Amino acid sequence: MSNTSKKSPVSRSGRFSGGPAADVAQFTESISFDWRLWEHDLLGSMAHATMLQTIGVLTKAELKAIINGLDAIGKEIATGKFRWKDELEDVHMNIESELTKRVPAGAKLHTARSRNDQVALDVRLWLRDEITALLREINTLQRALVALGEHNADVIIPGYTHLQRAQPVYLAHHLLAYAEMLERDCERLWDCYSRVNICPLGSGAIAGSTLPLNRELVAELLGFVDASGRPQLTQNSMDAVSDRDFALEFAAAAAILAMHISRLSEDLILWAGSEFNFIKIADAYTTGSSLMPQKKNPDVAELSRGKTARVYGNLMALLTLLKGLPMTYNRDLQEDKEQLFDTADTVRATVRIVAAMLEHIAVNRAACAAAASDPALLATDLADYLVLRGLPFRQAHHAVGAVVALAEKTGKALNQLTLAELQSVDKTFGADALAVFDLKTAMAKRNLTGAPGTKEVAKQLARWRKQLVN
Ligand code: ARG
Repeated sequence: MSNTSKKSPVSRSGRFSGGPAADVAQFTESISFDWRLWEHDLLGSMAHATMLQTIGVLTKAELKAIINGLDAIGKEIATGKFRWKDELEDVHMNIESELTKRVPAGAKLHTARSRNDQVALDVRLWLRDEITALLREINTLQRALVALGEHNADVIIPGYTHLQRAQPVYLAHHLLAYAEMLERDCERLWDCYSRVNICPLGSGAIAGSTLPLNRELVAELLGFVDASGRPQLTQNSMDAVSDRDFALEFAAAAAILAMHISRLSEDLILWAGSEFNFIKIADAYTTGSSLMPQKKNPDVAELSRGKTARVYGNLMALLTLLKGLPMTYNRDLQEDKEQLFDTADTVRATVRIVAAMLEHIAVNRAACAAAASDPALLATDLADYLVLRGLPFRQAHHAVGAVVALAEKTGKALNQLTLAELQSVDKTFGADALAVFDLKTAMAKRNLTGAPGTKEVAKQLARWRKQLVN
């Protein structure tokens, strides 16, 4: 099929005798997805034009006409009136070509600029906004975790290893473990932000420009500055147009974040199941079964776990996309956007819905108390008791193991054994040994930094409350 599209895009004018074949145009277009960079593309163009005026490429009147033209286009896009044209390939050419139709000076806008540095700029600008918005959402999720912990501050549950009951912890302690993970996610995202926040404009297609651009001014206008206000510029034009590690870093940080949310979701799913029955997720965040009338399924939590897969997939796709590319820009790089957009959209939506779901969770205090009252959870405390009476820990561990076996044999709970039975295992046991099984006292004793003790958990809750308000 040698069908050619009607119009020839600006990038083909002069050198080419006609437009690309329709199937080629369809294969190579990115407007269907990169249109969402429009706001950032406009901002970048406004800053570039402002700089071009200061170096004499544009007159003041031309600059004004360009800014007004871009502004009008922005308003049309925002209200859905702008007509995107497939034959103009991408967001950059759609906007520039429309501008030039309306404003003759638009033809000067692309001076010393290539779509290669332009697209790198747009993605960086877009990602900066995405990261800041995501950080806010994570903060809300952390606050929801802290609030759920605070509202159930006295609730104790078994802590698990290997999904077997291990030792008692406050529910708040378990929830705050996720607040800690999310905090590291925020740190990773901030760290990534510092490398996103570097201005590539002025790198041209690959080799900068012979014109005396003021790169610092463009960077300042677009907020590419460090904490002391110094402009942050890419230092190698070839690197600047081919680098996408800033996007990869985001995709990697997002994948770790998604993994954390997936684990949280898994805990919530388990807790909501009848075997645990620790929590009830509000109806609005669950769905029924089309066949079994009794079912209430935690679909939101399951999808939060499930969506992690595509976030991982996007990271792998981006890594694979980049691995074989020769320097510098190659059209392959256009394939970075859908993955990046999908990653940002998916993690943001997930963080938001999980925060909302947490706000609609009721804790089943009776079920938690019943599970936490299992005296076996305090077997280690009994070993510590023997250690305090001078027994080496290995011996104490062995003795308590024998006590557990004895309890099992006699069909008694650990705290129902008599002193005589305990002493039949080891003479070190005294009359006060059974006091170890008082849960309240046991929780009061766990006050090392980071431990789930009564005072320590209250302290950690207070710290988080203070930290998240700021
Ligand atoms: N749509 C392209 C992309 O996203 C813009 C850059 C095109 N550059 C080029 N030399 N064809 O990568």
